[in-house]
Amino acid sequence: MNLLPTGGASAPSSEELGARAPSLKALDMTTEEQKTAHWKRIDRRRLGWWGVVSKKIKPLYEAEVEAILKALKNVKALSPRDWEEAYSEDPPHWAVDLTPSLFAQEFAEELASRKLKSVLEIGCGNGRDSIFFARSGLEVTAIDVAPSAIKLAKENAKEAEVDIDFSVANAEKLPFKDGQFGAVFTLSVLHATKLAKSLPEVNRVLKKDGLAFVYLYGDTEFAGGKREEVIAVDKYLELLKALGFTVLDFYDEQEKDFDEFGEKHLIIVSLLQKET
Ligand SMILES: C[S@@+](CC[C@H](N)C(=O)[O-])C[C@H]1O[C@@H](n2cnc3c(N)ncnc32)[C@H](O)[C@@H]1O
Repeated sequence: MNLLPTGGASAPSSEELGARAPSLKALDMTTEEQKTAHWKRIDRRRLGWWGVVSKKIKPLYEAEVEAILKALKNVKALSPRDWEEAYSEDPPHWAVDLTPSLFAQEFAEELASRKLKSVLEIGCGNGRDSIFFARSGLEVTAIDVAPSAIKLAKENAKEAEVDIDFSVANAEKLPFKDGQFGAVFTLSVLHATKLAKSLPEVNRVLKKDGLAFVYLYGDTEFAGGKREEVIAVDKYLELLKALGFTVLDFYDEQEKDFDEFGEKHLIIVSLLQKET
């Protein structure tokens, strides 16, 4: 696809830009103020140019979004290979920041008050929350289906000087013993799995009275009009009960606005306890 503006270009040519720019020889860049003023001038010119180009390419981007939405129409859950691909070049948007989530901070307090010492994070991404749990004194195990996520999380944990047991694994078939953990934490992951497989796994690896924090999307609505349902709230609650979880805390919220990725979600957040 050609993203360059075509026909009737009102963008300045490089000659025009050059003609308007002061020659380097004429520039006095002795003081810090002069240097700052010079870079500001360049930046203004760059932004002016971008204003022209972006108007030209906007329809092309829009056409592309439509095409992508069409192609996504019949796609269901992402495969492990899709997740790996998401990490293949730069880290994906969720894996850039290492600030722990507020959910992880509250969950760690809950675990401390109940004297629970071990936690498994499912779908750890860049490791931000696992690193936080380890810093809070918990014994942490973390898995992700994408090998590149685990590589990144290991590097981040090394830099943070914390000890975490990382491995590549799938939420639908956890490589751990029954009752191995006091707690399970999983944030924005399980809607990408078959819940009929992953939720029983969360239950299986928990000790009796162990706690699980599960944040997932019940559905996703795309700006193009398509809606993908994962699970309705009442069905989710039924499933939890059938699995032997007590729901200690719960809320669901329908997002009103589309986010910058053209999606809005039904968010379902639950704090669970294994009964038997
Ligand atoms: C949106 S990211 C969230 C990452 C992290 N929980 C956070 O909040 O920063 C979803 C993560 O789940 C992982 N994931 C997706 N499907 C998975 C599965 N079946 N088993 C384990 N991890 C999975 C992805 O590779 C990705 O790292």
